[in-house]
Amino acid sequence: LSVSPPPEPVYTIIVTSRTEKRDIAYALENGADDYITKPFDIAELRARINVGIRLLTFKRQSIDSNARLLEYTKQMEKLAEDRAEQLVRADRLSTIGRLSAGIAHEINNPCSFIAVNIQTIEEHWELIVDAFAGVLSDEKKAEAGRFASMMPDIIDEMKSGVTRIKRIVNGLKTYAHPLSGKSSPFRLDACIESALQLCANKLKYHVRVKTELTATPKIFGDLYQIEQVFVNLFTNAADAIEESGKDGTLTVTTKEEGGFVIAAVRDSGPGFPKTVLENLFVPFKTTKPVGNGTGLGLSISRNIVKDHKGDLIIENHPDGGAYCKVMLPGMGREVQ
Ligand SMILES: Nc1ncnc2c1ncn2[C@@H]1O[C@H](COP(=O)(O)OP(=O)(O)O)[C@@H](O)[C@H]1O
Ligand SMILES: [Mg+2]
Repeated sequence: LSVSPPPEPVYTIIVTSRTEKRDIAYALENGADDYITKPFDIAELRARINVGIRLLTFKRQSIDSNARLLEYTKQMEKLAEDRAEQLVRADRLSTIGRLSAGIAHEINNPCSFIAVNIQTIEEHWELIVDAFAGVLSDEKKAEAGRFASMMPDIIDEMKSGVTRIKRIVNGLKTYAHPLSGKSSPFRLDACIESALQLCANKLKYHVRVKTELTATPKIFGDLYQIEQVFVNLFTNAADAIEESGKDGTLTVTTKEEGGFVIAAVRDSGPGFPKTVLENLFVPFKTTKPVGNGTGLGLSISRNIVKDHKGDLIIENHPDGGAYCKVMLPGMGREVQ
């Protein structure tokens, strides 16, 4: 937005010998501010000029204060934008903090079985060397054969372990990455899968995850911010189910409707408390103990979805449990 400086205000007094009402009205309609007819009294002209000066001074002051107001507004907008960005980042960091123990555990698992496999290889290596040298007894030869036949499985296991570690680390890396604010086309199902991956450990013990991700049009936007929305919804569901003291189900489905891609996230927990539903999207409202929740998740998630010209609908399902719908405009379709 470029603001050109307003033109200097001018005050015009017509000094005229015409006395016809029509002529005077014409002059006033075409930009004159005042008129005086000849012959005129110098004192009257001076008085009228003084009125003009007073009006001009007032006009100039109001132009100045308007410009200052515009400047303030711009500063406030920038401040609000910076704050919003800081909050999004704070929410990401707090989520990473809460998920980190579980993520470390997820990395530790494949590391453990890779370590066991390496130890097995190490223990049998001498046997293999001896087998090649042809110095083994029949019994040892059989043992070397058994080990050799186990090798493809050992390698497969280690490969899948390394892939798992890589996937977890990549997910974490992008989540911890500062927001780029760049938009590009992405697939919502892939985004949901990577959010589930980040929450895998949190969901593992008490939550059965059911997904039904149908092929939907791509979304144009910031994949990492949308991922943040789902991580928030999934961790909320896990918290709610965990708190209920019973194991439960998290169901994630996607579909397309009226140009929108809709992801429904439903859990079998106790549902949103009434007080939360009445104060939806109010930041810092949390029912969780210190260190477990910031109360930012839902309000930030809604802002992210709104920024993508979509909507986040939060309600309880008639059959119980929280029911959240993320609606995003799909690419290449007219949004109705
Ligand atoms: N799936 C859910 N089931 C029940 N209550 C929920 C669910 N998700 C959120 N809530 C309630 O909404 C509150 C606000 O959620 P949120 O904005 O994500 O903040 P936080 O998770 O940090 O508390 C939670 O404290 C909780 O009381
Ligand atoms: Mg939350």
